[in-house]
Amino acid sequence: MVDSTSGKSPAGPTPTKADRFSFGLWTIGWTARDPFGDPTRAPLDPVEAVHKLNDLGAYGITFHDDDLVPFGSSVSERDKVIERFKTALDETGIVVPMVTTNLFTHPVFKDGGFTSNNRDVRRYALRKVIRNIELAADLGAKTFVLWGGREGSEYDSAKDVQAALERYREGMNLLTTFVTERGYDLRFAIEPKPNEPRGDILLPTLGHAIAFTNSLDRPDLVGVNPEVGHEQMAGLNFASGIAQAIWHGKLFHIDLNGQRGIKFDQDLIFGHGDLMNAFSLVDLLENGGPNGGPSYTGPRHFDYKPSRTEDYEGVWHSASANMRMYLILKERAAAFRADPEVQEALAYARVPELSEPTLNPGETYADLLKDTTAFEDFDPDAVGEPGYGFVRLNQLAIEHLTGTR
Ligand code: GCO
Ligand code: MN
Ligand code: MN
Repeated sequence: MVDSTSGKSPAGPTPTKADRFSFGLWTIGWTARDPFGDPTRAPLDPVEAVHKLNDLGAYGITFHDDDLVPFGSSVSERDKVIERFKTALDETGIVVPMVTTNLFTHPVFKDGGFTSNNRDVRRYALRKVIRNIELAADLGAKTFVLWGGREGSEYDSAKDVQAALERYREGMNLLTTFVTERGYDLRFAIEPKPNEPRGDILLPTLGHAIAFTNSLDRPDLVGVNPEVGHEQMAGLNFASGIAQAIWHGKLFHIDLNGQRGIKFDQDLIFGHGDLMNAFSLVDLLENGGPNGGPSYTGPRHFDYKPSRTEDYEGVWHSASANMRMYLILKERAAAFRADPEVQEALAYARVPELSEPTLNPGETYADLLKDTTAFEDFDPDAVGEPGYGFVRLNQLAIEHLTGTR
């Protein structure tokens, strides 16, 4: 890609479809209205979005029902919009790996969708989601994301949390029955967030969300779609949370972006927030599998907001920047893993030793109790003396991240 500001091709990696980068239509298409100011950009035609993302090297586009088809459109208007969009997909080879539903913008959802205190709203929300699941299946999407931004409350006295969880479960069980009986090859991914727009959101972190998914009728069909900034808004370590989601077999999709600390949801470019944690995340996704290969093979999906200061040139520059950040970090992580000094520091730090089971094959607690080397003859003072060298290992990581090594 040639940078239209400098006229030069940027140095470093260039994204291709093999990288599986995807973008929400609502990200590049955000017109930059915020709670304090009017939009700074004109609306973006979804067809142009498809072509532009294709030119930049992305492979996929995702959307909420209302991003593509404005809320309240007639059936014939809806059909026309979808036809135009499908033509753009055919012309470019851009795919739709994920689809989601907006249950937060219209005033009807001011107290939530699946967990609104108003039963009629809950029934309407389920119908709206089912309508978009049919479109998702038709477009070949494999993941259906549900971000419950309005499923929450501001006042403890106004929301019966146990009843809300019961209604959320009722809704999810209905949806998994629906896709199963229709034979759709589609799984659900719940996207946690601690707050914003609600004062408190019902499934605030990926841990809460995973526990909830395991309480459902078909837990295999429901995982999570964690977003970098959402966990970091709660002060949590995103890379570590993703490792846990993978361990639970629940990482169905991922939202990449940047966040600087505990504050409002910034939706910055990936890597433009906590860069070190972004490095660890890419290292985990690319090299953290059981044999050192990828631990996640799904789309690398960007859910960010091009800053309000940017015009469309800045929007496309920021879309590119997301993909370049990922590829740059992927290169750095590969160099980190290939460095013999890093391998030696990892061994010194006993990182590989943690993969060895604590008990011998077939060993029982009776055997452990008989093993005097484990206790009676064990010297905690001697074993407690040497350090682990974790700081040296982390410094090596930072030197690779900064291109110093
Ligand atoms: C946010 C969320 C949303 C969701 C999207 C998908 O703004 O906090 O990240 O962008 O990802 O609604 O359903
Ligand atoms: Mn967000
Ligand atoms: Mn998101």
